[in-house]
Amino acid sequence: MPVFPERQDSGSAFPIPTHIAIIMDGNGRWALSRGLPRLAGHRAGTENLRRIIEACIEFGIRYLTIYAFSTENWGRPKEEVEGLMEIFEDVIDHELQELQDQGVQLRHIGRLDRLDPVFRNKVLHALQYTSDNSRLVLNVAFNYGGRDEIVNAIQRIIQDKIDPQEITAELVNRYLFTAGVPDPDLIIRTSGELRGSNFLIWQGAYSEWYFPPVYWPDFDKEQLRLALEEYGHRERRYGRVDQPREEQVDGHAH
Ligand code: FPP
Repeated sequence: MPVFPERQDSGSAFPIPTHIAIIMDGNGRWALSRGLPRLAGHRAGTENLRRIIEACIEFGIRYLTIYAFSTENWGRPKEEVEGLMEIFEDVIDHELQELQDQGVQLRHIGRLDRLDPVFRNKVLHALQYTSDNSRLVLNVAFNYGGRDEIVNAIQRIIQDKIDPQEITAELVNRYLFTAGVPDPDLIIRTSGELRGSNFLIWQGAYSEWYFPPVYWPDFDKEQLRLALEEYGHRERRYGRVDQPREEQVDGHAH
């Protein structure tokens, strides 16, 4: 796990989440509402991602996980899938140094096998190149699905011949793609859709969710600030009921 530098004072009056995760939804509709092709929406979404990374650093967020491409997204029209792959490759080719200069450590969750070997090698190089950075961990969910991740973990637990008695939630955590990354405190899905869509289904068990009614390219720093403010007002109880001391009879919480 990276050793983070001291948090910059973000000036926030609220507790800042350590880890936020974002489903960057609505690129297609953003484009269509402007009479543009869907890929123009993905390009605008990429521009916005750059701004949000900067904002996360300013707010003192340590981990940002983004849903870039799901295991189900291969079912989109060929032209859109190819266009998205071009965008991802373009970002690695042209923005890696900028990310490095910003102190961003890139991580990947999902499957890299069965990808084009040239592309896969570029991804592996980018992960290695930024691995010593510690200002912000940018965890990119690419070819990722939450159920696929759990299936993968079960397969490896069985391959490792782990004694069933030793299988605990902590052990499962170590077999997930996110091993070593704390669970997301806050998950944001833009565009007004109210679904989880197979994103961080294990890790998000106690995450707070936030659904801003704007498309991803319009989710700007001020929108992020509103999300953080809302998060700061939430009471996280993890299934417990906080009772006044004298009412606690058996000392147990459920
Ligand atoms: C969802 O919008 C968005 C995606 C499936 C792709 C997200 C990718 C980017 C923002 C590109 C930048 C990412 C990286 C890592 C460089 P949608 O197409 O489902 O929108 P719709 O629901 O309006 O159709």
